[in-house]
Amino acid sequence: MKYNVLLLGSGGREHALAWKIAQSPLLAEFYALPGNPGIASLAECVEGKADDFELVRRVVVEKNIDMVVCGPEDPLAGGLKNFLMSSPEVRKDLLFVGPDRDAARLEGSKDFAKEFMTANGIPTAAYRSFSADEKDDAAAFLETLRPPYVVKADGLAAGKGVIISDSLEEARASLDSIFGGKFGEAGSRVVIEEYLAGVEVSFFVLTDGSGYLLLPEAKDYKRIYDGDRGPNTGGMGSVSPVPFCDSEFVEKVRTRIIEPTISGFQKAGMDYRGFVFFGLMNCGGDPYVIEYNVRMGDPETESVMLRIESDLLQHMAAAARGKIADESIVVSDGAAMTCIVVSGGYPGNYKKGLPITGLDRLDGLTVFNAGTSVKDGRLVTSGGRVLAVSAKGRSLEEVRDRIYSRIDMISFEGASHRSDIGSDMINWADHD
Ligand code: AMP
Ligand code: GLY
Repeated sequence: MKYNVLLLGSGGREHALAWKIAQSPLLAEFYALPGNPGIASLAECVEGKADDFELVRRVVVEKNIDMVVCGPEDPLAGGLKNFLMSSPEVRKDLLFVGPDRDAARLEGSKDFAKEFMTANGIPTAAYRSFSADEKDDAAAFLETLRPPYVVKADGLAAGKGVIISDSLEEARASLDSIFGGKFGEAGSRVVIEEYLAGVEVSFFVLTDGSGYLLLPEAKDYKRIYDGDRGPNTGGMGSVSPVPFCDSEFVEKVRTRIIEPTISGFQKAGMDYRGFVFFGLMNCGGDPYVIEYNVRMGDPETESVMLRIESDLLQHMAAAARGKIADESIVVSDGAAMTCIVVSGGYPGNYKKGLPITGLDRLDGLTVFNAGTSVKDGRLVTSGGRVLAVSAKGRSLEEVRDRIYSRIDMISFEGASHRSDIGSDMINWADHD
């Protein structure tokens, strides 16, 4: 069978997913809501918002969609799958890639995720959670810990709800600001947890709730400046593979984390069909879960998609149908990297609408659009993270050199990027 696919979202992650989906011989018609100018060369883009459920339903019905792929977490946490599947107008055999509202709490509530991990014996930082009327207990608990202190808003806070502080005063102040409403409803509960020292890595699976395919792992670079300095961003680049993820480490991740997570879904009666993103900390060779996300990562997806050689659309259809056991994934043993070109001033204030030039001269690179739009027929900037400049090759060193020899041909007023993506991983052997 061939599939009419609707992809939800508008960032670099979604452009990378679209790029991969568009290569499938199983694709019939391809729509995106809202998509972006890069996605528009692969799919028909429908204006609107991915969390406008009525609009999503209308497109699903009018375009006779067979499969919905949801890029971002918000529609999932809001129950888009429940909404569509309970709509009488929507075909009962609609394939939906992404969890329902209940299962999406793994990302939507850190307290829920922590309880889930504890119940299933999954390694994670020790923690306690507190509601606003337990603020004094929360402050007293902080005093029993050693710095650095990790204080998290329970709910979705666009990746900003985690405050790590070196002093007790700062940690107490972060309690005040979270309970004081800095993250709105997301901060009506806080999780305080033990600090895990190590190196972060992102693992991804596609699951049907009983089996899973392991996707390539990736490392994300979150800080704005070289050397992991400066404020956090949505992600400045990514690489895949990650050198310390040798077969021994991957086996630990499978047996200690991925498999207990999936059997945890079954025990809890969660019907999870879609991607699970495990944000892990490698603490001296042992993996610990920092967070679950119920979607792919951005900018990890840009590197991950470049390394998958088998048909992702076929795998997603199998996951949504509960038939993942029939699938096997083929991953390139080469390397991929993405470097994000951002607007001047990001992650603070930045200008929008600046014309972008030089994209036609980038041989050997794949450029995913992250924050762009079209104005008067020209491609212009429309976000903080503008382009995900990506490449695949035999080694990380080769792709890093290829990207950095060409990335400055892209220009718009104020454009900047990190110049050290991948370098720590290329030099990884020196760390040991
Ligand atoms: P989260 O939103 O939970 O992924 O946290 C955001 C970032 O904070 C993570 O990517 C880590 O860099 C850091 N972080 C979160 N929890 C911890 C922890 N327990 N120990 C050390 N770093 C953490
Ligand atoms: N790259 C981290 C995230 O997508 O949340």
